[in-house]
Amino acid sequence: MHDNTDEFRDRPVAVFGAASGIGRAAALAFAARGARVAAFDVNAALLNGLADEMRAAGAIQALTAAADVRDSASVGPALQKAAGELGGLDHMIFTAGILRVGFLADMSERDFDDVFAVNMRGFWVTMRAALPLLQGGPARRRAVTAISSAAAIRPKASSGAYAASKAALSHLVRVFSVELAASGITVNAIAPATVDTPMVAPYMGPATSNHGYRLTGTSPMGRIAQPADIADACLFLSSAASSYITGITMPVDGGSTAALPAS
Ligand SMILES: NC(=O)c1ccc[n+]([C@@H]2O[C@H](COP(=O)([O-])OP(=O)(O)OC[C@H]3O[C@@H](n4cnc5c(N)ncnc54)[C@H](O)[C@@H]3O)[C@@H](O)[C@H]2O)c1
Repeated sequence: MHDNTDEFRDRPVAVFGAASGIGRAAALAFAARGARVAAFDVNAALLNGLADEMRAAGAIQALTAAADVRDSASVGPALQKAAGELGGLDHMIFTAGILRVGFLADMSERDFDDVFAVNMRGFWVTMRAALPLLQGGPARRRAVTAISSAAAIRPKASSGAYAASKAALSHLVRVFSVELAASGITVNAIAPATVDTPMVAPYMGPATSNHGYRLTGTSPMGRIAQPADIADACLFLSSAASSYITGITMPVDGGSTAALPAS
């Protein structure tokens, strides 16, 4: 058994896609445990106020900065500067993501490419920037957690490109986990079903114009996940309690992908 009291205190953590939803909840969860948190997002305006919120939650140190995971020239310098200020990098949470809905035959090339550029390639770009910083630290728990999706396990009609990008993200996680296993860095993904965030807000309620795109919605547990449910799983996959877990895509979905419910 591991005593995880205070285990994130003083630890430097970077969160990508931190301005909203799951990323914001993850940044605040680490902040509440006294971590040193760098919160990055492409939407700089949405980051306003988050550093103060993180400090109020308990962060020993908190900073926010604009970074676009599609662009290594943006991610690299932002991460290096943050690691310099925070005293290294122990944990990286990758939640940046976009959803574009539509039948595969109808989607624009632009939407298809954008989904892969952020959800899949963005993770690779961010990992390449983070790795020298993760490896440069002293021998202590270092972990990477990416937010994949239940769609990586069970894709849906009308979000095929998104599902394929998340399946590819989970594959990158698997390969990184083995390539980095000897260094002691664990790399895992989380597969949520519907989480109550701005990303899916337009699709709550009856499917209308979006080619019938349907959220998974309420899980067999009788509710929709909140961002904090996923942030808790990020804490677990960064903790000493999960130090022998690497390469997995862990459903955190209230049983949504476990079995089809009775009708
Ligand atoms: N909400 C759900 O139902 C759900 C379900 C499964 C998986 N996910 C995944 O969880 C992750 C977080 O989503 P969310 O629901 O919190 O959505 P969200 O829209 O609230 O947050 C996503 C954040 O990513 C940022 N982002 C987008 N493109 C970026 C880029 N190029 N560089 C940096 N940041 C960028 C956005 O600005 C936003 O702040 C995503 O990867 C999403 O695919 C969400």
